[in-house]
Amino acid sequence: MRPMIQFVKDNLEGTLTGAEVGVAQCTHANSILRNLDCDLYLVDKWEQDFTIEHAMSKLKGEANFTPSDSVEGASRFPDGLFDFVYIDADHTYEGVKRDIIAWLPKVKTGGVIGGHDYSVEYTGVMNAVNELVPEATIIKTDWYWRKKQCV
Ligand SMILES: C[S@@+](CC[C@H](N)C(=O)[O-])C[C@H]1O[C@@H](n2cnc3c(N)ncnc32)[C@H](O)[C@@H]1O
Repeated sequence: MRPMIQFVKDNLEGTLTGAEVGVAQCTHANSILRNLDCDLYLVDKWEQDFTIEHAMSKLKGEANFTPSDSVEGASRFPDGLFDFVYIDADHTYEGVKRDIIAWLPKVKTGGVIGGHDYSVEYTGVMNAVNELVPEATIIKTDWYWRKKQCV
């Protein structure tokens, strides 16, 4: 289990509402579903290596699929809906910045935002997280932050 999901498991109770942004073939989405009691929303353009049909075949109705650009996808959800949002989409500085700005308002106060690939291989991720979420916890290559107030 990735560190952010372990944190969510250890700190949030009940049936959770979560999102993964950047899903590919559902490898991590599958792990989230095996480890958390949650309604999971999956957002991806599915324009690169995998099709949405391939992704959906992996989870067979266990999650809600939103084929969309990340920022456009975020606009489909009300603010404060999610207990957690896990970002693993466009790894450029501008891309991660856009995603954090779009998805942070969608996380409820007390919820958790974070993502993958905070590492020297992806300096864009590191720089965007350092700038926008300076209090983030970093474990292995996950970053996450428990939201303290509405933004
Ligand atoms: C690293 S893969 C995700 C891997 C997945 N989280 C896992 O660990 O199993 C990145 C995914 O992000 C998607 N992606 C990249 N930029 C995106 C954007 N702007 N909006 C939506 N999806 C995007 C790609 O289509 C790709 O499937």
